[in-house]
Amino acid sequence: MPTIRFRARDHDVEVPCPDGANLRMVLLRARLPLYTRVARAIHCRGHGTCGTCAVEVEGALSEPTPAESRRLRLPPFGKEGGAGLRLACQCNVAGDLTVTKRHGLFGLGD
Ligand code: FES
Repeated sequence: MPTIRFRARDHDVEVPCPDGANLRMVLLRARLPLYTRVARAIHCRGHGTCGTCAVEVEGALSEPTPAESRRLRLPPFGKEGGAGLRLACQCNVAGDLTVTKRHGLFGLGD
């Protein structure tokens, strides 16, 4: 069973999850702050269109979906496809991970 280490402003916790689980669902079920306060009200509910579930990830994940690749090429992520970022709603866990949620609506802050 993979372990996800989740890091954010006031969080540094580890949660276990089933292999192949959707990363967004694992983080939400663990009540971890995947979304900022504003994004909690306006996100696309996992359809890969809003970009507010963007996180930095180190570790084994599924390949980017077409929706994820498309969204990460659009603003505010830029032409590099949100270098280093993944959309949690489009990712399935394939092993131990370290997930970092940065500040800001789209997780692009420091
Ligand atoms: S929840 Fe909207 S892109 Fe992931």
